[in-house]
Amino acid sequence: TIPHLPLNDGRRIAQIGFGTWPLDDALAETVVQAALACGYRLIDTAARYGNETGVGRGIAASGLPRSEVAITSKLRGSEHGYETTLRAFDATMAALGTDYLDLYLIHWPLPMRDLYVDTWRAFVRLREEGRIRSIGVSNFQPAHIERLLAETGVLPAVNQLELHPDFTQAALRAWHARQGIVIESWSPLGRGALLQDATVLRLAQKHGRSAAQILLRWHVQHGLVAIPKSQDPARMAQNLAVFDFALDGDDLAALALLDGDHRQGGDPDTNDER
Ligand code: A2P
Repeated sequence: TIPHLPLNDGRRIAQIGFGTWPLDDALAETVVQAALACGYRLIDTAARYGNETGVGRGIAASGLPRSEVAITSKLRGSEHGYETTLRAFDATMAALGTDYLDLYLIHWPLPMRDLYVDTWRAFVRLREEGRIRSIGVSNFQPAHIERLLAETGVLPAVNQLELHPDFTQAALRAWHARQGIVIESWSPLGRGALLQDATVLRLAQKHGRSAAQILLRWHVQHGLVAIPKSQDPARMAQNLAVFDFALDGDDLAALALLDGDHRQGGDPDTNDER
């Protein structure tokens, strides 16, 4: 069984989930079905990935009851705003073929558009209506979250951020811990780049594990949720099998030296991805 972390809204979240970017609909359907067969119970998609229909079909094909699978999706940037969010949520539900989401995230803050507070009000309403279990954000910085809290009184349960040993954002993690917001790491393997790192390979040798397992174990031991993507059944199984070994203090100290403050994806303050 997969360990879970408590959320600030009384719910909980699996510490390893399955990412679906950049799978298209056709691939998402078979890959998500395989991921569920191998034991994943948290599936992460987004309207912007263009694969919600395939993800929904993969979940249906698994034969699992809806209540056994936690589904996360994200509101795309072009839909920021109160009414547009309500409509986009309906479209996401239709594509996924479900009538509720376990977690819905604002994909990017887009501070240049200044609509994320209105968007958040729609999220709060959808949660009150029971159509979303937990609401959160993605790629938000503390200033954005502080504004949500000041203007709506509602703190996100989750912030999904780019995070891996080459981009550990220690101060940001400490801030989220103080606020009681769980961080989900996107690109937990650093988009694959860290898999060749000499330190990671040495620890893989030491523990008799793969490089990916060392990296995912790093997330787990830092109290993060990680959502690795793999379309290979052997690698997806491997990525879930990180709860039967532990990195020691020396290992963590060695991995801490890999932090190059090196972002691979967009910058939350300037990214205008719609
Ligand atoms: P693949 O789907 O062919 O397995 P990130 O999650 O950081 O964005 O990295 C995802 C990349 O890492 C993908 O290219 C994926 O390719 C690869 N990957 C995922 N799991 C593993 C693994 N256990 N070993 C090697 N590569 C992996």
